[in-house]
Amino acid sequence: MRSPVIVIGWLAVKFARNQRGRDSNLYEAKLYQNSTEARRTLLCPALWVSPTGALLIMRAAQPLSEMMSEEEYIQAFTAWEYKPGEDGCPFEPKASDWGWFEGRKVALDYSTPAWEAHA
Ligand SMILES: Nc1ncnc2c1ncn2[C@@H]1O[C@H](COP(=O)(O)OP(=O)(O)OP(=O)(O)O)[C@@H](O)[C@H]1O
Ligand SMILES: [Mg+2]
Repeated sequence: MRSPVIVIGWLAVKFARNQRGRDSNLYEAKLYQNSTEARRTLLCPALWVSPTGALLIMRAAQPLSEMMSEEEYIQAFTAWEYKPGEDGCPFEPKASDWGWFEGRKVALDYSTPAWEAHA
């Protein structure tokens, strides 16, 4: 939907290839903006999105090479404090969805609920 993501210095730029990509870009920007500080520590910062979602600018992170352990994922899921009625938990344990940023692991792709069937 948005690969390849272009990393330029501190910034990562996600170019949407299609409507799903645009929806994902808008979703990540909005989720980051509306999240509490506690939740933001789990998310790679989204800095700016174009009005239609064609372009999203994030801080650049160092992608993980290995999938997270189940324990780490449970920790992240618990820290998110998912509440019933909200969109689904926004991240998955895939290695490519996580990266190192400022000494912690953060989600790079947190757009799953943007296009997953809504309850
Ligand atoms: N902020 C970032 N810093 C560094 N690399 C990133 C960042 N965001 C994404 N990437 C890299 O780009 C890849 C694709 O980004 P992302 O998963 O958000 O887009 P996607 O549209 O879901 O693409 P894909 O279908 O390949 O997962 C990620 O797997 C990750 O390796
Ligand atoms: Mg992805």
